[in-house]
Amino acid sequence: MKIDTRKILARFRWCGLLTSATLLASSCVFAQGPKPVTPEMRQKVDALVQKLTLEQKITLIGGEDDMFIKAMPSIGLPRLKMSDGPLGVRTWGPSTAFAGGIGLAASWDTKLADRVGVMLGEDARARGVNFLLGPGINIYRAPMDGRNFEFFGEDPYLAGQMAANYILGVQSQGVSATVKHFVANNSEFDRHNVNSIVDERTLREIYLPAFEAAVKQGHTGAVMDSYNLINGEHATQNAFLNNQVLKKDWGFQGVLMSDWDATYDGVAAANAGLDLEMPSGRFMNEKTLLPAVKSGKVPEAVIDDKVRRILLTAMRFGWLDRDQTDLSIPLLNQDADAVALQSAEEGAVLLKNEGSLLPLNKQTVHSIAVIGPDSYPAVPGGGGSSTVTAFAPVSFMGGLSKMLAPDVKVYWDAGIQSPQDIFSNTHWCTDATCSRHGLTETKYIQATNQKLTSGVNDHVDNVSGSEWGDAARIPLRVEWTGFYVPKQSGVYRFYTQGVGETRYRLMVDGKQVLEETHHEGQAPKSAIVTLRANKPAQIQFLVWPMTDNITAGLGVIAQDKLIDPEAIRLAKMADVAVVNVGFGPDSESEGFDRTFELPGGQDELIQAITAANPHTIVTLTAGGSVDTHAWIANTPVLLHTWYAGQEAGTALAKILFGEVDPSGKLPISFEKRIEDNPTYKNYYEQTGTHDVKYAEGLFVGYRYYDKSQVKPLFPFGFGLSYTTFAFHNLTITPDKASPDSPITVGFDVENTGSRAGAEVAEVYVGDPSARVERPIKELKGFTRVSLNPGETKHATVTLNRRSFAYWDTRTEGWKVDPGKFVVYVGDSSANVPLQKNLTLQ
Ligand code: BGC
Repeated sequence: MKIDTRKILARFRWCGLLTSATLLASSCVFAQGPKPVTPEMRQKVDALVQKLTLEQKITLIGGEDDMFIKAMPSIGLPRLKMSDGPLGVRTWGPSTAFAGGIGLAASWDTKLADRVGVMLGEDARARGVNFLLGPGINIYRAPMDGRNFEFFGEDPYLAGQMAANYILGVQSQGVSATVKHFVANNSEFDRHNVNSIVDERTLREIYLPAFEAAVKQGHTGAVMDSYNLINGEHATQNAFLNNQVLKKDWGFQGVLMSDWDATYDGVAAANAGLDLEMPSGRFMNEKTLLPAVKSGKVPEAVIDDKVRRILLTAMRFGWLDRDQTDLSIPLLNQDADAVALQSAEEGAVLLKNEGSLLPLNKQTVHSIAVIGPDSYPAVPGGGGSSTVTAFAPVSFMGGLSKMLAPDVKVYWDAGIQSPQDIFSNTHWCTDATCSRHGLTETKYIQATNQKLTSGVNDHVDNVSGSEWGDAARIPLRVEWTGFYVPKQSGVYRFYTQGVGETRYRLMVDGKQVLEETHHEGQAPKSAIVTLRANKPAQIQFLVWPMTDNITAGLGVIAQDKLIDPEAIRLAKMADVAVVNVGFGPDSESEGFDRTFELPGGQDELIQAITAANPHTIVTLTAGGSVDTHAWIANTPVLLHTWYAGQEAGTALAKILFGEVDPSGKLPISFEKRIEDNPTYKNYYEQTGTHDVKYAEGLFVGYRYYDKSQVKPLFPFGFGLSYTTFAFHNLTITPDKASPDSPITVGFDVENTGSRAGAEVAEVYVGDPSARVERPIKELKGFTRVSLNPGETKHATVTLNRRSFAYWDTRTEGWKVDPGKFVVYVGDSSANVPLQKNLTLQ
């Protein structure tokens, strides 16, 4: 890793100051990356292990207090602290919130990944954290996965390079990264039970390589097993993946921990390679493992190996020699703020810019209307364990106001109510004459239909299942019944939500209007129904909670009341309108999947604002693609900002007004319709089972679009800039070679426009003469090149044996079929203007 000397000097300055202020000099021990494992180190670790009793060793392999590995003072092991990532050091109070993984991946900037890692490492040390629980690198199969925003997109090579550099950065600060979630954890519904059925070649070529890069190139100190099953075996007890692939094939020497409560069988997990059960030793404990060791079911050597890994990691990172808390690092770290801003700027992808509406000019734009649910407050990230409390997150409205006021007027309106607002504002009636407001809530025992308690709720606004108490013990059905009496005839939009492990159904006048069949939470859904004035509509909302840890929401609004007229008025008045739509922690999160469609009402909002003002810019806050069909044709500008972290608003203002040239590229394929996605028929569990068959095999994302007649709306790797680029002079050296020596791909990148910018050159490799079916081309290298107007730079990318190989199931190894290969260079998977053949012997 390149060392930033400026940074080191700055840190020494801090240490100097602190020492002169007579603070403990030990708090200034400069962090070092992990030391390489040496035979002496192994001997020392073995000696420590020998000092422990079997009971002590077992105690050590179960965590405590949610985020710690237990201390073992007799051998000098301090309590080791963890913090959630991957978007910031999130567990111990406010911290820096960086762009979400997918936004970082959209920068295609490995140096930035490293810089983000360094800052995360500093933030971790400032809080005494030994293990950062990130990066998350599961492959993007479909837009619905509620955690896509944390991960690095659809391509294993891109994800692997971003991950390895992020990890090197974190670990350079003496903090262990924890790459997660190993593996095939590509959806959130039913996440403890879902069984990902993936053939080995697909695993090796699509789902494992980013983890492999994290281990072999990033040297990650820890790996986290996922909740799901893979080919019938839970990740935490999958010996093939943990022992064979991770530890044996890749030589992983660190700690393999479980996801939180992802251990289901102590003996099976112990034997299958799990080193540490988190957040506590619920299964890998003395009660289970002592008799198992004594009876020979679990060899003591297996327990020793786990303890050895924990101690070796502690020794390599220096945790046995120094205090992990580095008080010389400011908690509110301005260097980190700057990197967070860079991550937001470089990650934004400009997808459409009709008539070069962007960049805007402060001299000619006198007023701007900022509208939409994601415009204020700031939405730095999605929901779940990655949610960072940033010190002062900048919303889109805040960022634009700060840059523009008072010269340019900034108007603001949320434009539509959130589903939560609609839940709280709906006026229900318990009976058709509306003698009383509210809906009647009744609990039934699911199995016997026996009626339990009943009462009236004024609103079903996130009613919490904890009120039912016994839902976890006795499976219940909870029903809300009553009426909605519309004041006018017309179209109404019903909204539902069931967060947590639950399913539900909404019936209006006896007809099913909305349904959620998948357990483990859902984003809000909406549907329209036509109602007649003053004719009471009968409502029945049935919820089947799996636990009492759920919330339910129900509401309705007249479609013509959906859009706030003030938003349209402001959009008409302003020179330019910016509509910030998308998701947020309530609608895109760990714990549940999201919809492909934007949350209810947002399509209509975009349509209304673009109709009111032809100079409308739409921004998307989402972890991936969304359904754009209702508005894309009439929207002149579309900018994907993902979840851009604490500086999202500052970055947006700079991009819109041309202080920053957009340079992000899609790390995913953006489909026109969800039916076009290769996983469309097999994303969810097969009926009556927990099985998700990865039937698309290798053909995820662009690998599928390349070979099919279906074209995405925006291809993988695509992104516009305010300038233009061209590629020339492709050379391959040598072009007849053995795959065992490096092959250099050289080309020129030219800035053909009139302003400075950065282009990402993407290098794909195809194997048309392969003996097995292979994708037409696959990303095997990329480089980001910054260029002044008119400037040309020569770039090179080095390919190696692996760039040409596929996983051969017969020999259980990587294989290169000799013959013709094609190297492609371009700016997206759909635009590769340079192509050349090479022959491998
Ligand atoms: C998540 C992990 C997270 C852990 C600790 C789990 O529910 O899946 O990504 O690191 O919780 O908060």
